[in-house]
Amino acid sequence: MNTNLIERIKNKSAIIGIVGLGYVGLPLVLRYMEVGFKVLGIDVDKAKVEKLNAGGSYIEHIAPESIKRALKGGFDATGDFSRARGVDVLILCVPTPLNQYREPDLSFVLDTTDALVPYLRKGQLLSLESTTYPGTTEEELLPRVTSAGLEVGKDFFLVYSPEREDPGNQSYTTSTIPKVCGGQTETCLKAGIALYQEAVEQVVPVSSTKAAEMTKLLENIYRAVNIGLVNEMKVVSDKMGIDIHEVIKAAGTKPFGFTPFYPGPGLGGHCIPIDPFYLTWKAREYGLNTRFIELAGEVNANMPSWVVSKVVDGLNEAGKALKNSKILVLGIAYKPNVDDMRESPSVELMELLEGKGALVEYSDPHVPVFPQMREHHFDLQSIELTERAVASYDCILLATNHRGFDYDMIQSYAKLIVDTRGVYQRKQHNVIKA
Ligand SMILES: NC(=O)c1ccc[n+]([C@@H]2O[C@H](COP(=O)([O-])OP(=O)(O)OC[C@H]3O[C@@H](n4cnc5c(N)ncnc54)[C@H](O)[C@@H]3O)[C@@H](O)[C@H]2O)c1
Repeated sequence: MNTNLIERIKNKSAIIGIVGLGYVGLPLVLRYMEVGFKVLGIDVDKAKVEKLNAGGSYIEHIAPESIKRALKGGFDATGDFSRARGVDVLILCVPTPLNQYREPDLSFVLDTTDALVPYLRKGQLLSLESTTYPGTTEEELLPRVTSAGLEVGKDFFLVYSPEREDPGNQSYTTSTIPKVCGGQTETCLKAGIALYQEAVEQVVPVSSTKAAEMTKLLENIYRAVNIGLVNEMKVVSDKMGIDIHEVIKAAGTKPFGFTPFYPGPGLGGHCIPIDPFYLTWKAREYGLNTRFIELAGEVNANMPSWVVSKVVDGLNEAGKALKNSKILVLGIAYKPNVDDMRESPSVELMELLEGKGALVEYSDPHVPVFPQMREHHFDLQSIELTERAVASYDCILLATNHRGFDYDMIQSYAKLIVDTRGVYQRKQHNVIKA
């Protein structure tokens, strides 16, 4: 049966089902279509399904033309899970957030799997790509698949292969980012390798699904901890009158043993502020504390308040109080040149400033209207950055350094700029670094 599936993958007659058509799932759909597979997309969000089937895109860096091309090639999106029976491969790319107690919320992964179980059949391969703690595939997915009467490794194949998508990164695409894969059994791994080597240049096999799950967490914890480190170095350097960005640039000339990480107003995105705590939670089961993760989390979580204190200092120098000052937050997506707002520290900055009585607005060419967010609300639209507009604010808070901003113009007309991204390298009378 496995040979059969591998044959079908190799000759591209296998149908690929991708469940969860967001930042991770949609690029994967397009990649499998590009290399000649027929792909079925499954998502619970009706609006997304309708948009895709009408040839539209809801992700800024994915052009509607790519969706239209995929539709022509036979791509089809649906909310009907029973159609999973007709595919050979199911790749799960659903969210893995934290709950209100900052513990893993696996409900999306489990609900999706439960919804698929009635339609699983012999000869299929199921791959989980969502970031999660080591043990999820084995402890949660395996029993569910087995409950469908399928024997994993014999008549059904189960792998974990973490996604490494970096939206907006122009140097790497889905096909050029190596893909780690761990199988529940040797035969599962073989099927996983066959699947992914059709779409990516390099597949990196590891010995188990747990090792693959831990690999993804190590990558993201490495980033969270190093960002925590430079954020702490930033606060210390600031007190000492040293510019941390100059220091990182100089240290970055060392050809070995140093990788630059950059400080900022706090962590953002769906991965770095969240994923490390999946390990923290799981480690407790083994009586272990993840102290680096907790410490980095504490340092990074303090950044928005530290930045606000810099805004207060800057206004104070000009004889102004934060209350009733007009503040323009520049960039509210969580990182440059994308429209993704998830966990964006800019939103926390806006809330902290507004909470202290400031009159807050924002400008972000990627986010024309402040979006609907589960826990945040601002009835605002992006301000157009004219010279007059820039000059009208008491403070411009540079939170996300999008390529599209005219930084020279902003510096020429702003009364005060608080720069959290090290954009202004040279000393300027109206720029404070934060
Ligand atoms: N965004 C990234 O850059 C990135 C990078 C690496 C890993 N990841 C991981 O990949 C996973 C997915 O992230 P994302 O950014 O694509 O999320 P996303 O929110 O953009 O997309 C998830 C999609 O899943 C759909 N969905 C939710 N519940 C569902 C269900 N029960 N059945 C079917 N579809 C359902 C949602 O409607 C949405 O379209 C997460 O575990 C994330 O940590 C994300």
